Amino acid sequence: MKSGLTVFRDQGALADAAARFIVRTLAQTIGERGAANMVLSGGQTPRAVYQRLKQVGVELGLEWSRVHLFWGDERSVPPDHPESNYRMVRESLIEHITIPETNVHRIMSEYPPAEAAARYSAEIRKYFRLVMGTFPVFDMILLGTGQDGHTASIFPGSSAEIERNELVAATFVEKLQTHRITLTFPVLNNADELCILVAGASKAEVLRDVFAGESLRLPVQQIRPARGELHWFVDRDAASLLHERKFE
Ligand code: 6PG
Repeated sequence: MKSGLTVFRDQGALADAAARFIVRTLAQTIGERGAANMVLSGGQTPRAVYQRLKQVGVELGLEWSRVHLFWGDERSVPPDHPESNYRMVRESLIEHITIPETNVHRIMSEYPPAEAAARYSAEIRKYFRLVMGTFPVFDMILLGTGQDGHTASIFPGSSAEIERNELVAATFVEKLQTHRITLTFPVLNNADELCILVAGASKAEVLRDVFAGESLRLPVQQIRPARGELHWFVDRDAASLLHERKFE
């Protein structure tokens, strides 16, 4: 596994650098294959990255019509719900770019969790023309992590943490008393490029734990791409308990 960590002075610098990395990677993939796909993270941290993508995309001439968007996870709420990850991406990115609706593959979270997971899995299989038993290779997957070390909606001790066969899991999150729909580790770890975006002082302790040793007890520590590259984009506040800090 090839991986790197870069510490940025603040969330703005992180968002700009992540947006530039994403656009350059998508543009290069489009140049090679004529199309590209990206899995988007939910939560608040990536919002600033999505807001930068429009401007950086204009600067670097990204053809959004050749990009397909997917989600790493979704809350079990309708797509117009304030907690919807789809709604957050729609408001911070999709409404500001020209992208065909058929390129936007949201998780149909208005259905019961198990059905939403099955529908999303079928959508991924169809897009990648997957044969059963194989996993998709996404060009770019964006992730975050919670203070408990969850990533996507793979929470510590959840059924999703041990899922190794399905592409998508519907999982009940005890601490939140709610269902989530999430891509599974076999899919996440099959990506060509993985970016984990972490910002804010509240994440300093979990980042310290992630890099403290060899134990792989936290879900985000199990993000270990088999052949792709893992990039940590971290701001200074979140990195405050890490040794060897250099700022971009
Ligand atoms: C979600 C995300 C989740 C998120 C972390 C960090 O649906 O909430 O997929 O995994 O990345 O919870 O969220 P923040 O960026 O808001 O801290």
